[in-house]
Amino acid sequence: MKPAVVADIAPLRHAVAEARRRDLSIGLVPTMGALHAGHLSLIEAARAQMGYVVVSIFVNPTQFGPHEDFSRYPRPLERDLELCGAAGIDLVFLPQPDLLYPPGYRTFVEVTGLQDVLCGAARPGHFRGVATIVLKLFNLVQPDRAYFGQKDTQQVRILQQMVRDLNVPVEICVCPIIREADGLALSSRNGYLEAEERRHATILYRALTEARRRIEAGERDAAVVREMMREQIDSAPGAVLDYAAVVDADTLQDLVQLVPGRPVLLALAVKLGGTRLIDNLLIPM
Ligand code: PAJ
Repeated sequence: MKPAVVADIAPLRHAVAEARRRDLSIGLVPTMGALHAGHLSLIEAARAQMGYVVVSIFVNPTQFGPHEDFSRYPRPLERDLELCGAAGIDLVFLPQPDLLYPPGYRTFVEVTGLQDVLCGAARPGHFRGVATIVLKLFNLVQPDRAYFGQKDTQQVRILQQMVRDLNVPVEICVCPIIREADGLALSSRNGYLEAEERRHATILYRALTEARRRIEAGERDAAVVREMMREQIDSAPGAVLDYAAVVDADTLQDLVQLVPGRPVLLALAVKLGGTRLIDNLLIPM
């Protein structure tokens, strides 16, 4: 079963207005497609909670750096539409880049500070692109709730800040990380991994869970936890660490000591061959 698909702004607004007239609550799940069980968990949450669910599929050019994988990012459109149909989605928004970034486009959203650390340090401009496209999608669909994954925890933190700072009337819902049986977090980029790299990719989750175990056992020195994760990553052949972070979950700033009542984010970015993988664990403390 194929869902209804719109590629333009007028039919999108029309369909959403029609749903509003029927008094349905509106849910939005923004994606770049290549849908997997992680995306589907967001879609299912939206389906369960909201009367009318819109999924956007758009590989957003402004969040890719000049040497990143924009052109080779997977675009299995037929399969994505099948999955949306099977999940009972009401509408898929499938814009072309020119529709959202016409010639002469000039306006961008920056969430200062939060956008420059962790993944933002290695990917300058990435979160500016994310915040901009997500605000545009919020303005186009005007959902009551929008669904995002904890997998991209910095993205979530930035979007929560954007919504708060710019008084955007949308509730951000955060869904847990969906993993393979061996712990690897699902990602559209996992398909880039060679068999050997795929085997070693489990090191991210193993390092995170080992770090959590140490914290639960009483370790309070953030540098010790950071170093422990670094050593774990170094032990996996071919894995190159981008960052091993022990940060305040709210400010995303490096911690020195872990203290009760202050949630901690453990976050890793690791390159395996040409593929950059990220993962994280939130520790409530
Ligand atoms: P994309 O990478 O397609 O992810 C879409 C949503 O799915 C994001 O909220 C992401 O956190 C969530 N997701 C991905 N893998 C997940 C997993 N293993 N478990 C749970 N959720 C997972 O994130 C983006 O697209 C873009 O930046 C976007 C927000 C669409 C803006 O372009």
